[in-house]
Amino acid sequence: MDGDCAPWGFSRDGAGAMAIDGVSTLALAAAYETPLYVVSEASLRARARRFKRAFASYPGEVLICFSYKTNPTPAVLRVLHDEDIAAEVVNGYELWLATAHMGVPPSRVVVGGPNKSAAEVAAIARTPPGLVVAEGLDDLQRLGAAASEAGTSLDVALRLRPGLVPKGMNPSTATGGKKSHFGMIVDSEEYQACLSFLDDTTTLRLRGVHAHIGSGIHDLRAFERSCARLFAAYRPLVDRFGADTIDLGGGLGVGTSREFTSMEMLRYLATGKLPTLQPSDDAGLTQSYGQAVGQTLVRLAEKARLAPPRIIVEPGRALTSPAQVLLLSVGAVRHREGAGRCVFVDGGAMSTSPMFLSELHAVAVAGPVRGAFAPAHVFGRVPSPLDAVYRNLKLPDVGPGDVLAVFDVGAYFGSTSSNFGGPRPAVVMIDERGDHRLVQRRETFEDLVRRDLAP
Ligand SMILES: Cc1ncc(COP(=O)(O)O)c(C=O)c1O
Repeated sequence: MDGDCAPWGFSRDGAGAMAIDGVSTLALAAAYETPLYVVSEASLRARARRFKRAFASYPGEVLICFSYKTNPTPAVLRVLHDEDIAAEVVNGYELWLATAHMGVPPSRVVVGGPNKSAAEVAAIARTPPGLVVAEGLDDLQRLGAAASEAGTSLDVALRLRPGLVPKGMNPSTATGGKKSHFGMIVDSEEYQACLSFLDDTTTLRLRGVHAHIGSGIHDLRAFERSCARLFAAYRPLVDRFGADTIDLGGGLGVGTSREFTSMEMLRYLATGKLPTLQPSDDAGLTQSYGQAVGQTLVRLAEKARLAPPRIIVEPGRALTSPAQVLLLSVGAVRHREGAGRCVFVDGGAMSTSPMFLSELHAVAVAGPVRGAFAPAHVFGRVPSPLDAVYRNLKLPDVGPGDVLAVFDVGAYFGSTSSNFGGPRPAVVMIDERGDHRLVQRRETFEDLVRRDLAP
């Protein structure tokens, strides 16, 4: 059974219990209770190093910025920053988290976001970050005015829409397609107006262009095409503004989880048929990604007789997703006529993370496997049919007290979780020596009423 958790680098001990970095997941569930997130520091560090290695041969400067919204757990951020990963933030909270709480130097922070508030713009202008990504002319005007008022100047990039949807991606979640509401089309009047505005301003310096085409992408050709379109826009900006930067956004997928395709999603909603997931080792994917975008930009720069641009990348999922596991306990198993085997656990799509609704994640029993595998509907604690982990999941025998492990929850699970189904889970980190400690305590009932002003 070792194979069921080997793609994540985990194993099973002699008794058949799943272990992360040598620590039994059953022991962790017993010690810290469930639902529980378990993060492997070794896996985080290995992923950060792998990402850096993928760009090691690029002849220009490369800045790798972790996309904070993917997993803003300070203990996770600390490990990534310790590995020399910078920060990409999209709101005032994340900007505060990076600069004030985590101590990241502002020069190593990229600030984006489609709708920056007045307070956020003022904070950006007071302490200029390494780069601000502007979504449009209005954004530039506000940033320019705030910088004048603060007596500072800002390095900016313009967010573009390359007009492409990566293969295998749902058009509704692609962010660089022709119908996306993010960023500008290069030939548009708005883009030209941005350039004219930048010609005349002294408080904003245009460093380059930015695009983010979606998340969970395996289609490396899509990144190459995005690079080519960004480079075409970047080239005239070198002479006109002294531009030197191409920010490729995030978006790289992992081999061990994926989005439902549109057809799979429709079939799943209509019939409950759960698609299959074939995990693969994604070390090669990261390496090929770094080489693909690096070589594309080197080739384009050589052809244009320009120095290779500084590359900024903003990975989220690729750095953290497989490094974190969610442990859930079975509370009840009910065999319901018409419905079949229904397994109730302490977290689902509404009680832990809506990511269960759109992404496929592997699920295994954390303890020894008993009996044959057969379909089960696994539900959380909210009395809604939507609060499912998955329907028609193949599971062996399980009963009250058994623990399930959900893989690849290090991206967007914690950050999208709510307390709709009760207090949010704790986070435990296993360090490189195999010691474990609580790095975020479980939410308490008191936490849930702390913001209330009336008794
Ligand atoms: C602008 C931007 N950069 C980076 C990311 C991180 O994406 P991923 O987790 O797919 O790498 C996102 C995610 O939505 C994003 O919107």
